[in-house]
Amino acid sequence: MLLAALALGCSDRQSYRDAKMDAFIDGLMEKMTLEEKAGQLNLPVAGTIVTGEGVSVGVEDRIANGEVGGLFNVKGAAEIRRYQQIAVEKSRLGIPLIFGMDVIHGYETVFPIPLGLAASFDMEAVEQSAHIAAVEASADGIAWTFSPMVDLGRDPRWGRVSEGSGEDPYLNARIAEAMVYGYQGRPGEQFVSKDQIMACVKHFALYGGAEAGRDYNTVDMSRQRMFNEYMTGYKAAADAGAGSFMASFNVVDDVPASVNKWLLTDVLRDQWGWDGFVVSDYTGISECILHGVGDYHEVGVRALNAGMDMDMVAEALPTQAIVGLKNGEVTMKTIDRACRRILEAKYKLGLFDDPYKFCREQEAASVVYSAENRAIARRISGESYVLLRNEGDVLPLDRKGTVAVIGPLAKTAENMPGTWSVAAQHSRCATLLDGIKEVAGPDVRVLYAKGSNLCSDYALEMNSTMFGRELGRDSRTDRQLLDEALAVARRSDVIVAALGEASEMSGESSSRTSLDIPDVQKELLKALLKTGKPVVLVLFDGRPLTIEWESKNVPAILNVWFGGTEAAYSIADVLFGDVNPSGKLPMTFPKNVGQIPIYYAHKNTGRPLDEGKWFMKFRSNYLDVDNDPVYPFGYGLSYTTFEYGPVTLSSASMKPDGKIVASVKVTNTGSVAGKEVVQMYIRDVKASSSRPVRELKGFEKVLLQPGESREVSFEIGVDALSFWNQQMEYVAEPGEFRVYIGGDSRATAEASFELL
Ligand code: BGC
Repeated sequence: MLLAALALGCSDRQSYRDAKMDAFIDGLMEKMTLEEKAGQLNLPVAGTIVTGEGVSVGVEDRIANGEVGGLFNVKGAAEIRRYQQIAVEKSRLGIPLIFGMDVIHGYETVFPIPLGLAASFDMEAVEQSAHIAAVEASADGIAWTFSPMVDLGRDPRWGRVSEGSGEDPYLNARIAEAMVYGYQGRPGEQFVSKDQIMACVKHFALYGGAEAGRDYNTVDMSRQRMFNEYMTGYKAAADAGAGSFMASFNVVDDVPASVNKWLLTDVLRDQWGWDGFVVSDYTGISECILHGVGDYHEVGVRALNAGMDMDMVAEALPTQAIVGLKNGEVTMKTIDRACRRILEAKYKLGLFDDPYKFCREQEAASVVYSAENRAIARRISGESYVLLRNEGDVLPLDRKGTVAVIGPLAKTAENMPGTWSVAAQHSRCATLLDGIKEVAGPDVRVLYAKGSNLCSDYALEMNSTMFGRELGRDSRTDRQLLDEALAVARRSDVIVAALGEASEMSGESSSRTSLDIPDVQKELLKALLKTGKPVVLVLFDGRPLTIEWESKNVPAILNVWFGGTEAAYSIADVLFGDVNPSGKLPMTFPKNVGQIPIYYAHKNTGRPLDEGKWFMKFRSNYLDVDNDPVYPFGYGLSYTTFEYGPVTLSSASMKPDGKIVASVKVTNTGSVAGKEVVQMYIRDVKASSSRPVRELKGFEKVLLQPGESREVSFEIGVDALSFWNQQMEYVAEPGEFRVYIGGDSRATAEASFELL
């Protein structure tokens, strides 16, 4: 038998494993009672981490009774081992639990928030960050992470854009895939090593389309927009082999995702051929009562019949499955199907071989938050920062003289990791001030003043402090804080202003209707500029902010998102030029909230505004502001400059089953080495449907030494030219396609070809 297995190829080996798995699960399920099967569908919350409303009671007794399939929010291998022991030793069949957690952008070693990771445009870095998260989490008991979050977001009022990869369908798909590989391994190599954990793709689906950017709000869109734009990330993650999906809180076609059969079964399984398990999002199933689509019993039954397999917190699925079976509303086959999917996940993870596989206390002590992982996090976070402005080459800073570090975000450790870093120990992060002091070296004098509170509105500050992470409100008056800051500023040669959002001003339930830098901080910034000293704005944010005024008045702006546990050092690395910034915006920065949603891949309309114009009567525009953003998608500066040559194509036409190669010569024309994200956009000039003015279809991050040139090429296949048409067919239509290559979404170098 063993020899036969060894002789098998990779996919045969997969089916050999599947056959073994099926036989094992068949045998186990024969022994299970209805109640035990229903128990597998139950995912209560335990432990000390709080990520939502609602608590689960009597968890330990219920594990012993076989009424629980998994647990989440328990931190630490020892504690997880304790719960696992109850399942294995006290429940009748000893079925192990699966332990989940929101390991979103790192475990204790935290990487940039996902929007920042996306800004790196570095897929190796993204994959590596997810892998390190898995290495740490898996040693500490976690088998399953509620990540990647691949909800496309084009409305920065929605606080959860911080958790995704921004506005672009193509970038979203590449990142979705990289994250799944990072957690689970590459196809054919998944779940073979002890540090691979199961991904959970969320939130299925379209959660980022919430109306008015208000969290949990209604989503409504055409099928074309769904599949051409919002679905690409989920699909790519499914294709990458993601083991589980999480249903979203919102409605899709007026039916809440948790009970939406079209979504959970017709699309996910029948259309995409995906075969993992689906979990609800927190109390998503019982929330269907408030959506007005049924009572507790009805929504539990509907969810199960729609294709939901596991219920997070609400417990409607396990309990109502039993009632529903008695009433004839649910079949045994449906319950078995959901139960089997959970058992399969546990089997694939190796939990039946060793329920304590992920409880490696000793190893956890050495790998979690290790110096090695932190060094990688420092490097990766340095890739995520976006240099938005650098007039007069204020940056990089000289390693001499006096630097004043000023602002409410300058000296706070709590703020550094960013939202959804539930496993992090926030207080041990270095503050920006610490980082600057360390990296600046002995010849730089570093002064500090707080300068202002987060905002004048105490209620807003309190609303932004989920998980109790506050910045600490200063009891001095605004005037006193400002005077102290100005006194410090006057004694310095350059000012680093650390301003923006507190970490919990973005993330879940953190929507905003104003995206300005909060009031007192903006006053502080204006006052600092008036001193006449050069000012570098280090802008913390979990979303695009409206910084039109800043973009014209502050000489240097470095957008740092929330860079994770090592952010303090990596920001300082960039400020002092040890690292050349290379991040590019994964989301458009609007001029004001009224322009939202604003994204580069928009449709042309029949009345587009002429290039460079502010307003034209009877055109698609606004009376009071032009259509351009402050900073477009893909934008970001460097300490060097890059020049692009013309775009060349391998052929003037392409056969429907052919390929074409688009190339460009990129030269580093400055005096330091730097990385450039070379971006390729395509426009389908004429089609049966109106197509976006351009769409990202390829990118490559290249390192160029001063004076070095590189030919960067992109292969264009039929997929890059295809779209879902009005009949919902995926087609590439013959005709002209334009290719643009450059350093952001406004790239002008172009060439065109004909699809035959
Ligand atoms: C969030 C999910 C998260 C879950 C568990 C929910 O409130 O929407 O993204 O995975 O909580 O913490």
